[in-house]
Amino acid sequence: MNESTLRRSIKLHAPADFAGMRAAGRLVAAALDMIAAHVREAITTAELDRIVHEFVLDHGATPASLGYRGYAHATCISLNHVVCHGIPGERRLAEGDILNIDLAVILDGWHGDSSRMYEVGQVGTRARRLMDVTHAAMMRGIAAIRPGATLGDVGFAIQRHVEAERFSVVRDFCGHGLGRVYHDAPDVLNYGRPGDGPKLRPGMFLTVEPMVNAGRPEVKVLSDGWTAVTRDRSLSAQFEHSVGVTATGCEIFTLSPADLPGQA
Ligand code: MF3
Ligand code: CO
Repeated sequence: MNESTLRRSIKLHAPADFAGMRAAGRLVAAALDMIAAHVREAITTAELDRIVHEFVLDHGATPASLGYRGYAHATCISLNHVVCHGIPGERRLAEGDILNIDLAVILDGWHGDSSRMYEVGQVGTRARRLMDVTHAAMMRGIAAIRPGATLGDVGFAIQRHVEAERFSVVRDFCGHGLGRVYHDAPDVLNYGRPGDGPKLRPGMFLTVEPMVNAGRPEVKVLSDGWTAVTRDRSLSAQFEHSVGVTATGCEIFTLSPADLPGQA
């Protein structure tokens, strides 16, 4: 997320630490499953945030974003041309909106971090394709994760898929290490070259969270200091999973227990 994460070394967690990440990841996935039924016309994004917040507290966890660098909400909710870090508020959902709900929790000291796209009623074909491509790009990045592969391999897999579909990868934000810390080293870029960057090793915990724009990749941050939007006002989509590198590949901690179609 920033320069200080770049300088820190990448933690290698013990096999026993996977249990903590699994529990935190499962809770985030359950919350993102639960909220799907509430995503409908006329609800405000603040109401969605409150429902998620309560669910997290009811399950013995706390939202990691609360108080993080002055952020005051449990989720980020990013609609349409908002790339990420949308602040929940009084905006009411309307037919055709697409939105990302991003949630991170702390459970027994471990962080789970995931986001998904949701749709309100019938969405346009371009919006549909943007969401499908973004999800597939994330899964291709995750499929590249194994001991000996590099972060450049992961970024390359994501970028190649997105650009082959004539969409663009946002450069201003990236994935990150996590574990007992919310945003840790390394930066997980959504673009890159095969063989570049640090080598992946068993016990690394990472997020893969590509942001993909239907138009140009440039973003700007609004005067609230958080909301990032596409400069050309094109639609943007994002998915995020938390994963752990294993001896043979990786384990996704934030897979949906309900196994919602297209949202795993
Ligand atoms: N959850 C976002 C991520 O995927 C970060 C949100 S910043 C916050 O890393 F301040 F809102 F927490
Ligand atoms: Co994240």
